[in-house]
Amino acid sequence: MLEHDVLVIGAGLAGMRAAIAAQTGGANTAIISKVHPVRSHSNAAQGGINAALTDRGDEWEEHAYDTVKGSDYLADQDAIEVMCKSAGQALIDMEHMGVTFNRDDEGRLGTRAFGGQRRARTFFVGDFTGQALLHVMFEQLVKSGIRSYEEWFVTSLIEEDGQVCGVMALEIRTGKMHAIRAKALIFCTGGLGRAFEPSTNALIVTGDGISLAYNAGARLMDMEMVQYHPTTLAGSGVLISEAARGEGAYLLDKNGERFMEAYAPNMMELASRDVVSRSEQTEINNGNGENGCMFLDCRHLGEALIMEKLSQIREIGIDLAGVDMIKEPIPIRPGMHYMMGGIKTDVDGLTNVPGIYAAGECACVSVHGGNRLGANSLLDTIVFGQRAGDHAAAATRSKEFVNFDGSAAVKKEEGRIQQILDRPQNDDRVANIRLGMGQTLNNNLAVYRNQTGMEDTLRSLGGLRERYAHVPVDNKGAVFNTDLIFSLELGFMLDCAETITVSALDRKDSRGAQARTDYPDRDDENWMKHIVTNKGEEGPEISYLPVSITQWTPEVRSY
Ligand code: FUM
Repeated sequence: MLEHDVLVIGAGLAGMRAAIAAQTGGANTAIISKVHPVRSHSNAAQGGINAALTDRGDEWEEHAYDTVKGSDYLADQDAIEVMCKSAGQALIDMEHMGVTFNRDDEGRLGTRAFGGQRRARTFFVGDFTGQALLHVMFEQLVKSGIRSYEEWFVTSLIEEDGQVCGVMALEIRTGKMHAIRAKALIFCTGGLGRAFEPSTNALIVTGDGISLAYNAGARLMDMEMVQYHPTTLAGSGVLISEAARGEGAYLLDKNGERFMEAYAPNMMELASRDVVSRSEQTEINNGNGENGCMFLDCRHLGEALIMEKLSQIREIGIDLAGVDMIKEPIPIRPGMHYMMGGIKTDVDGLTNVPGIYAAGECACVSVHGGNRLGANSLLDTIVFGQRAGDHAAAATRSKEFVNFDGSAAVKKEEGRIQQILDRPQNDDRVANIRLGMGQTLNNNLAVYRNQTGMEDTLRSLGGLRERYAHVPVDNKGAVFNTDLIFSLELGFMLDCAETITVSALDRKDSRGAQARTDYPDRDDENWMKHIVTNKGEEGPEISYLPVSITQWTPEVRSY
């Protein structure tokens, strides 16, 4: 049987960083991913990575304060301290690995402004920072000699005597099922964006790890906190980086007027994301947009700057909306972008389930709380990926493998998959169920929410689940059966959608990304707490955890 001390699931930035750390820590480590590592969704991070460098006159406490305020005081301040203190070294490590960050006029690492931050502390590579980091991290993975199971899809976890001790994985190229034994699993499987329609997220972002861990008893936290990014492209919903506003772009209404002064007179377009998205949505609802969109105006930045620093989003605008941002404002609107919640972990990636760790977007440490600052996600992946890898390596040193019958496990999982393939034909389609889920979430769990809408979504999800239990898979083949994979992914997303909706219904205040029209105020007396969801007999069960407050007392938030 295949066997590793540490098995990292997911090969984006968090996953590769965790694997390299675990291997360096002496663990026999492997990484498994349903796509080739450089196709992971970290690729899609555009604008940059935050770090406060003291030689620039910046301090980690300043970064931490901006992050705490950005989170609407829901993030855990002890975890934010860890992240912001580690940021400078993490950035320099990436530079030393070979990331060619943009430079300033003096030849030092250059920075750009990003939303919700009082200083320009976002380091960047054009508008494809995630891609640059991901490729460099992949080189390190290759150099390390870590075993990489590429295009292998984890279908379930193996539990023996109540202990999680490995995974069942489908080798996508052949259709062969494998059992992989491990002393520790580190989930780095990314977010769940494709549960929403539309989303800035790649088609592979389907909440796999969140659902697998949840079904194994892991606690999820802050699942109601879904980030809508202020600038996603009209139509496709593809990300148009905040870097544009960081470089000085304006938001305009249909009459060509800037409107942010009414909402964030100091920070204007660079207020935090939840604030800008709400402002745009309010304007759209008031009839000041056009075809459901506002506009991003980059013309005054000039062709040279756009070509040097924003060339990718310019191409996206031309290719997908037929608009050249050098010449015209580009139509944008708030769109689902990021999950602040996820598998509840401590700062070393540990969850409540022995042997399960998590890091990156699938995890909730919680450093983002109600609203993540742009360019803190790349930082989160490498800081907490590394810490989880370090911890797992040390923890597995003295741990024995759990024994189980690998052949029996394979047979059982093959039987389960065969039952799915054998479902009788009907008129339903996986794609239709996913679209129904995506649309109801995007209608009712978006920028503004209310009880009636969310209850409607919960009811719809119940119906979609019933259909899911019977939906056929057309392709019965073994080789690259993406039809089957889409079906399994849909099951993961339905679990995530349910926990999001139940958590959002439970929270009776407005904070960060959760803006309830029926509870419009932040209520610190009753709701300054994390909502935790556990899998119960009848669905998600709710409990609460306190928010860690170290040095920043909650205040009224304005930008
Ligand atoms: O707008 C952006 O470039 C997105 C960055 C992020 O989500 O961190």
